Amino acid sequence: MVACSVGLLTRLSLRVQRSQVQHPLRRLLSCPGTVAADLRREEQSSGSAETGSEDRTPKKRFSEVQNERREQAQRTVLIHCPDKINEKKFLKFLSQHGPINSHFFYESFGLYAAVEFCQKESVTSLQNITRTPSLGPEAAIPFKSRYLNLKLRNSLNQTSELSSIQCSNQSSPSSKKLYQLLCCAESVDDQLNTLLREFQLTEENTRLRYLTCSLIEDVAAAYFPDCAVRPFGSSVNSFGKLGCDLDMFLDLDEIGKFTAQKTSGNFLMEFQVKNVPSERVATQKILSVIGECLDQFGPGCVGVQRILNARCPLVRFSHQASGFQCDLTTNNRIALKSSELLYMYGALDSRVRALVFSVRCWARAHSLTSSIPGAWITNFSLTMMVIFFLQRRSPPILPTLDYLKTLAEDKCIIEGHNCTFVGDLNRIKPSRNTETLELLLKEFFEYFGNFAFNKNSINIRQGREQNKPESSPLHIQNPFETSLNVSKNVSQSQLQKFVDLARESAWILHQEGKDRPSPSSNQPWGLAALLLPSVANNMSLSKKKKKPASERIKNLLDSIKSSGAENSTATNGRRAISTQA
Ligand code: GTP
Ligand code: MG
Repeated sequence: MVACSVGLLTRLSLRVQRSQVQHPLRRLLSCPGTVAADLRREEQSSGSAETGSEDRTPKKRFSEVQNERREQAQRTVLIHCPDKINEKKFLKFLSQHGPINSHFFYESFGLYAAVEFCQKESVTSLQNITRTPSLGPEAAIPFKSRYLNLKLRNSLNQTSELSSIQCSNQSSPSSKKLYQLLCCAESVDDQLNTLLREFQLTEENTRLRYLTCSLIEDVAAAYFPDCAVRPFGSSVNSFGKLGCDLDMFLDLDEIGKFTAQKTSGNFLMEFQVKNVPSERVATQKILSVIGECLDQFGPGCVGVQRILNARCPLVRFSHQASGFQCDLTTNNRIALKSSELLYMYGALDSRVRALVFSVRCWARAHSLTSSIPGAWITNFSLTMMVIFFLQRRSPPILPTLDYLKTLAEDKCIIEGHNCTFVGDLNRIKPSRNTETLELLLKEFFEYFGNFAFNKNSINIRQGREQNKPESSPLHIQNPFETSLNVSKNVSQSQLQKFVDLARESAWILHQEGKDRPSPSSNQPWGLAALLLPSVANNMSLSKKKKKPASERIKNLLDSIKSSGAENSTATNGRRAISTQA
């Protein structure tokens, strides 16, 4: 590796492809407490389909992971590079400011490098030799960020030394590749684990998410020193797919905490502040100003929309350099707690993430979910359904939230809601359930294909159905704000579509169990058969582009066409798809 050849310059290079990434990272595993050690645990837990919670390695708390990642991001710079660059010289140049801990390159409308220094001071040192560009007739608004631009001096002299860089992949596999991988798998369990491995956020993608938050924090800190911008949602709850949005939350609590700690003696000192009529108005004002600031001065922030009248006001924008679609909120501590809860559930048993990923991909493939808000079911709701289902197994695979509350070390009340649950994963006993992923997937579809949605509510706090308190077609109790329904938006027709597809998928898996094509036959089977619509869409897209189609793809298209014809005459909501086509 180049990083090694420049001696101590770089302790670790993350520039290689995902499949190769595991190897160099393992070298760090002797350092317990590093982010890489977390990664190994993640690899271990996602790599095998063995049942039960077999991994006995001590697991980190959510807050520990968040703090380590945040600190790592603060030591990192993002550099837009020329398309070709001499990597060795690039690293040598940067290491004048201090040793580099890791780096990787990626492409997003140009070549970028994320470079993590060992010390924060190195970033300041680098910033001190960085200039504001002179743009000719245009004017630049000076802003000293950690998002930099690298230019080549005397580029003509350097041409012979420049080389293409190996980039880390930031996107999920194409439908065609996924289809091939799934068809080559050895079992349905293997398929579910393959899907997880291919779609889960990579180490580099996770770093980029924390780095993007850190860069936005620099902008927000101009108004609110001591603020923090924290990622939440699927970027951190372990259920994020490559390409998912980046939910971030502007945390101003540190500012309040500071004053509380400093009070002593008979006097109490308070800051003079502006008063506004409500918490909501305060949130709107803060986001309005930060949105304006990102729009006017935020390097790399484009398409900024201030959506301040939503139930949860937010600023939406694209971060061009990372390629992430970002949603910035504030005063959203309960959502961060929900992310922690899902992270806990995801870490408790190796089957949870594999099952959630497959259900999410299945729902996306059948257009049950969408990136546009509407009457569809959300990924968050689907995850709650999987958790609930796993709580209902015998013996249960996941504990109820009420049980996690009994193990808690401290009480946690947020905005009057009891959000108490155990933070130390090692206090939770592993499940004795040994069911396979194949069985669980089939039973998931059967369970929800026959669930009494008209009268029952899904409740992960108690892990059992309850009478619906209101008339929404789908009722999933919010785990912390218990009077709220997280799926209130879902219409009856969308729920019916979910139920129909769940029944059909259970049926497909059931049929398959009896008569499965051999993995070498290249016929869609198991999970591949369930995800067919996305393969079909993609194939027809590539056909429009007039790319030569292989014989096998033609066969697949024929099979989809014929199943489509059968579909139109199908009864009982079941698509008579032939896995033997
Ligand atoms: P993606 O679809 O991959 O983005 O999943 P996500 O979990 O990030 O979902 P989303 O971006 O829609 O929401 C981000 C986070 O906000 C979720 O993980 C939850 O913590 C929270 N959240 C989303 N929807 C609801 C809801 O209806 N009620 C509550 N209380 N929280 C929600
Ligand atoms: Mg999200």
